[in-house]
Amino acid sequence: MKSASNPIPNLSGFSERNGSWYAEEIPLSDLASQFGTPLYIYSKKSLTEAFQAYDRACVDPTGHRRARIHYAMKANSNLAVIDCFKKLGAGFDLVSGGELARALAIGADPKSLVFAGVGKSADEIAQALQAGVKCINVESIAELHQINRVAQQLNCRAPISLRVNPDVDAQTHPYISTGLKGNKFGIAYHEVLKTYREAALLSQIDVVGIDCHIGSQITSTSPYLDALDKVLDLVEQLKKEGITIHHLDLGGGLGISYGSETPPDITEFTNTLLDHVAKRGFAYLDVVLEPGRSLVGNAGVLLTQVEYLKPGAEKNFCIVNAAMTELMRPALYEAYHAIVPVQNKNLKSLTYDIVGPVCESGDWLGKDRTLGIEEGDLLAILSAGAYGFVMASNYNTRPKPAEIMVDGDKAYVIRSRENTQDLFSSEARLPD
Ligand SMILES: Cc1ncc(COP(=O)(O)O)c(C=O)c1O
Repeated sequence: MKSASNPIPNLSGFSERNGSWYAEEIPLSDLASQFGTPLYIYSKKSLTEAFQAYDRACVDPTGHRRARIHYAMKANSNLAVIDCFKKLGAGFDLVSGGELARALAIGADPKSLVFAGVGKSADEIAQALQAGVKCINVESIAELHQINRVAQQLNCRAPISLRVNPDVDAQTHPYISTGLKGNKFGIAYHEVLKTYREAALLSQIDVVGIDCHIGSQITSTSPYLDALDKVLDLVEQLKKEGITIHHLDLGGGLGISYGSETPPDITEFTNTLLDHVAKRGFAYLDVVLEPGRSLVGNAGVLLTQVEYLKPGAEKNFCIVNAAMTELMRPALYEAYHAIVPVQNKNLKSLTYDIVGPVCESGDWLGKDRTLGIEEGDLLAILSAGAYGFVMASNYNTRPKPAEIMVDGDKAYVIRSRENTQDLFSSEARLPD
């Protein structure tokens, strides 16, 4: 049900046919009957196509690979999702020991792993070094020294990049902007050269790359080109000083359409960046890209059921069985997700706020949506594949939903629904 209040993105894995929504070849209503709701559903076709759109640009017409995709698994770290990307040839961008454990659990090559994050603990650094990751992206001088100390204790070398904060405005939501000088991420631009000089003198450190990630849900290429130029200026300067950089990590952040945005096409965007690297004479660098959202965001939906329709004094409420506990983005960033009835019954339309059962006024999933629905109907919340399940919580002692991957006419449970007993099975009461 597309309307000005409810713009719908173009999706490759989900479609409406004769008034019913499908995941690839399976009606969403069948998945709800079989697996219950709330339910996360991913399309293998959709995530495969998004990966291939990046990968097409990573190999030039002569067959030379000029860049590699390291999927940022923070966007969706389900083992089946990351295994699909591994089989397509992806490496991974990690931000915790937990994500490292996931990558190792699917047999990812440690040399395909880059480890980022502003507050890595000594334990996490040790795990990464012992696993033999390709690179640790360093976010502060204090962390650089910590890595050197840990490597000394383990008697090994630590391959590092410095994450540059280029002070570029990615023109995105303040909570997901990371490349401005007021953000906690990266090393301030004017301190980068000094920090590289310091790194080059440390006993266990091997300088291998340079890294930059300016934010998320970025819908234009120009902030990337600004950041890229600033980073390449540093590489040039480092070369003059005899500090050799082998790889250039441009981070992730490319936005998707949630309904009305018009982000650049993935292949064109990647070509523009890689052509710019070559034009400035740095084609010899291995480029790493770390997309997350643009690989999985539109490959997932959250299926929910209407519990009650509640007319209010000022607003009508549609109370569904999913909440901020399943999908936090609206509550956290006031993010927009298109919401569609799974079966269009041609009912009279009313305007609703779509809200969950959680005891917070901030628990909403969509505002002012004009929908023709009745109690018991199923709704699909679109574009929920990225930063959806991974941000789910058990607030209000709510079990996390199941996750399903659809491949053509087959559906696989890739995470079982939690049950209530499990939520407090590790808790203990005090002795009497
Ligand atoms: C270092 C780093 N790389 C990659 C990403 C992935 O970003 P996105 O999902 O917007 O592509 C993030 C997320 O913010 C990040 O912090």
